[in-house]
Amino acid sequence: MSDVYETDRYVGEYLLFHYGKPKEILPWEHGPVAALDFPVRTVGYFSKGGVGRSLDVGCAVGRSSFELGRTSSEVIGIDFSKAFITAAEKIGAGKTLSCQRLEEAGEVTTVNVSRPGGTDGDGITFEVGDAMNLRDELGKFDRVHAANLVCRLPEPRRFLSKLASLLRNGGELVLATPCTWLEEFTRKENWPQGRTLDWLKEELANDFELIEVADEPFLIRETARKFQWTVSMVTKWKRVER
Ligand SMILES: C[S@@+](CC[C@H](N)C(=O)[O-])C[C@H]1O[C@@H](n2cnc3c(N)ncnc32)[C@H](O)[C@@H]1O
Repeated sequence: MSDVYETDRYVGEYLLFHYGKPKEILPWEHGPVAALDFPVRTVGYFSKGGVGRSLDVGCAVGRSSFELGRTSSEVIGIDFSKAFITAAEKIGAGKTLSCQRLEEAGEVTTVNVSRPGGTDGDGITFEVGDAMNLRDELGKFDRVHAANLVCRLPEPRRFLSKLASLLRNGGELVLATPCTWLEEFTRKENWPQGRTLDWLKEELANDFELIEVADEPFLIRETARKFQWTVSMVTKWKRVER
């Protein structure tokens, strides 16, 4: 598996992506502001109201886990990157983290980030784990969130086939993917044969009803003048027993 997500560069980029203030991420008036706050917007696809347990797989540095925590008594955030989980745990403990923001060439500036307003770390735990080999004792959840994860897995079908056992009947799944399949992460034979949406429908049809499909842009800052603007396909599913 690629270990890019263990590097200082990615930890800094993701801390800024998840917790940075709009002007810290995008200092350009004419920039794509609608692409900010992606980890908040994907959680917004769950139905309104409080629930018991939520799971955030591929949580990275944890922003969506804290957003899930606003309406869930318990949240588990899981990611394969130890560096990301360490950062998420520190944020959860109420620490302020400094991240290095690349401006250009060798020039860096420092941005301080911390837990989002109105959230606390209560009931939220983070752990290192593999989405393709999740531990059996996790139990059942009311909500499962996995944003921009499936096209980063070597064997995405192994993750998808586990989802039915993780959700209680009537529970909700929000899967977001930019459909950016790359051989660096996933061997070609494990890519969808055709459109990712058709592939997801096929893989999940036995246990899930598709509720909604939407497009959500996101923005990752690389330097002060270079950004990744990408559109993720968000699908919302309901666990059904047929
Ligand atoms: C593109 S990032 C998306 C992160 C976050 N959900 C977001 O939307 O910002 C992909 C994430 O999946 C994690 N990841 C990759 N392979 C994984 C695996 N096998 N199990 C769990 N997490 C994994 C990476 O460490 C990274 O945090």
